[in-house]
Amino acid sequence: MNYTINKRKTRNLVRFLTVFLMVLLLILLARYFYFLYFPKDNTQYSRNNSDKDQTFYIASDVHYLSEKLTDHGIAFEKYISSGDGKQLNYIDSILKAFITDIKKTKPDFLIISGDLTNNGEKESHLDLSRNLKTIEKNGTSVFVIPGNHDINNPWARQFKGEKQYLADCIFDKDFSKIYADFGYDEAISRDEESLSYLAAPTDKLWLLMLDTNKYKDNLSVGIPSADGLIKQGTYDWILKCLESAKKHGSEVIAVMHHNILDHSEVIRDGYTLNNHGQISILFKEYQVQLVLSGHIHVQDISSDHKAINPLYDIASGALSVYPFHYGILKYYVKSNSLKYFTKTVDVENWAKNNHIKDKNLLNFNRFSKEYFGNASSAKISKSLQESGYTNNQIKRMLDILKTLNIRYFSGTENLNEKDLLHSEGYRLLTELPDSFLKSYVTSIISDKDIYDNELTVDFND
Ligand SMILES: [Fe+2]
Repeated sequence: MNYTINKRKTRNLVRFLTVFLMVLLLILLARYFYFLYFPKDNTQYSRNNSDKDQTFYIASDVHYLSEKLTDHGIAFEKYISSGDGKQLNYIDSILKAFITDIKKTKPDFLIISGDLTNNGEKESHLDLSRNLKTIEKNGTSVFVIPGNHDINNPWARQFKGEKQYLADCIFDKDFSKIYADFGYDEAISRDEESLSYLAAPTDKLWLLMLDTNKYKDNLSVGIPSADGLIKQGTYDWILKCLESAKKHGSEVIAVMHHNILDHSEVIRDGYTLNNHGQISILFKEYQVQLVLSGHIHVQDISSDHKAINPLYDIASGALSVYPFHYGILKYYVKSNSLKYFTKTVDVENWAKNNHIKDKNLLNFNRFSKEYFGNASSAKISKSLQESGYTNNQIKRMLDILKTLNIRYFSGTENLNEKDLLHSEGYRLLTELPDSFLKSYVTSIISDKDIYDNELTVDFND
């Protein structure tokens, strides 16, 4: 009798457990398919759903060259002296000083808008990513995108003695692996046709990190393509991202290496996105008001003045070029607004605190200003001599050009009127026969957006 009751009890228990497990399985399957087909709730996109104001540091064009790739010898000196004024001989110190600033002030996020390396050298990418790791360990999340120099670059070189040697470059699939911790693994969506991704560092403010580079044919052509484009497939993906942000009530900042608006009448082709018109229209439609770019190495803010809700493009000055600017972007949650201003990497203080003996580093402000000011003097002087100008006239023109360049790259070209515009050197420059130099000087003077180091964006407008 007892045996029969126990047997029945066991059978009931087994039946109950079977039904229970089946129901549990059905619930789990239903949850799985629900999240597969329907978007997650907004709060699940971001780890940061607090109402705390957020601080973003913005840098561009680091052009980092690994110390393993240069002995600072004859070949390297020759290479940098024929360059565009980048302070590559001290780029490791500039980066270390920048990281020291970040560790001291602990911003929530650091964004780097491309040209992370000099010419896409694998060694430079690996060293830079190790440096970025130390920033993240200190509590600042890093987000990067590539620039035109970073991928498939046939110009990757190592400098040893009197010679340059080919160095390994990286390919696009390597980029997202090397920088997995700096955006790619945190992305809430990734484009299949480029290295673009969508990140949600906070619930209320999302980052549309766009890869605008055309590196596919670089190695076969033998030159890294400088111009940029948003491909049709990427455009379709952006549209989905903007729809998703709209649905979740999040503001979007777009980050790309190329510019969405012109920053100059002469530094435009190859710099402003080839299909900037198409992308601007899309951004306007979805109220994307701010783009963070780089590429031109000049600190410059452009806007489409006439529009009711203007689109702003902040081109960050290169971190590798005088005056070594980076931007600070504060997002105020309550007022749903942004405030932007710039700061300079404090290399002198870093050198002093680290007991560095190099006099150039200890007097970096004076040294780097002089270095940058003189960067293209030799080339221009030679061409002016060939055009028949006297040494005195050339000196006057070069002095003015030096001051113009220093102010232009610092975003302070509006200071020109008082002391420069009525000078003999300026008159000579503007009376030059038609040439790039003449157009360049005129374009600096005619820049209409005079505030290049500060901006306020109110998302409620
Ligand atoms: Fe660059």
